[in-house]
Amino acid sequence: MNRLLAIQLLMTQKNLKNYVEIGVFNGHIFFRIKSFFKIAIDPDFTFSKFRIFGKIILNPYNLFNQYFKITSDDFFKNNAPNVFRDKKIDIALVDGMHEFAFATRDVEHILERMNDNGVIIMHDCNPLTFEAACTFKEWENRNFSGTWNGDVWKTILYIQSCRTDLDVFVLDCDHGLGVVTKSKKHDKTSPFHFSMEEIDRLTYDDFNANRTAYLNLKSADYFYEYFQLNK
Ligand SMILES: C[S@@+](CC[C@H](N)C(=O)[O-])C[C@H]1O[C@@H](n2cnc3c(N)ncnc32)[C@H](O)[C@@H]1O
Repeated sequence: MNRLLAIQLLMTQKNLKNYVEIGVFNGHIFFRIKSFFKIAIDPDFTFSKFRIFGKIILNPYNLFNQYFKITSDDFFKNNAPNVFRDKKIDIALVDGMHEFAFATRDVEHILERMNDNGVIIMHDCNPLTFEAACTFKEWENRNFSGTWNGDVWKTILYIQSCRTDLDVFVLDCDHGLGVVTKSKKHDKTSPFHFSMEEIDRLTYDDFNANRTAYLNLKSADYFYEYFQLNK
């Protein structure tokens, strides 16, 4: 299981169509998605017009892509009202700035524009080392060397603590794939009651000691079970 397969399975078997990707980089995932409504958001795309042209040949759906070379915060403030005037999001990949506050805002913004049966996939939720879980500044000071997952894990814990209207779990694959849906249960309770400030103060050691619970960590196969998908 990886983020591309997860997205493709949901699109084909659950008929989810309208796709948003926050943090697109070279379009490695984005260009492979087959949908007439694809929104790419990244202040720093790393592809040229030639690459876009090549990707249209390989996957003609790319002809309809909409690119926003801005931060996700600016997109939701300035562009989202127009882009989603008569559309809602079915499926989103949240993979932009991997810091707690940013990832949480991204999820909240997507949720405001998402259909009730929509799904958010979050990349990089399960850092395996202290170094991988550092801040963007620390990673920059290391010359961007090594894996960087940031502290997106805190967003998962925030959802568990403060958003009992949502279902959330993390698949133990592809650096930790967070899955967020609008819950069908109306009487959900949570094992956690942290405030945002308390979560912000948690350290990597706290996370490492409580990894499975903080992430609601599941094996990759749970994805098929939860969404009742065929393999
Ligand atoms: C890990 S890469 C994305 C990889 C891509 N989603 C994939 O699966 O191959 C992260 C991207 O997030 C972008 N990014 C950083 N800050 C952002 C922000 N505030 N809003 C949107 N994108 C951001 C970076 O420019 C970078 O291209």
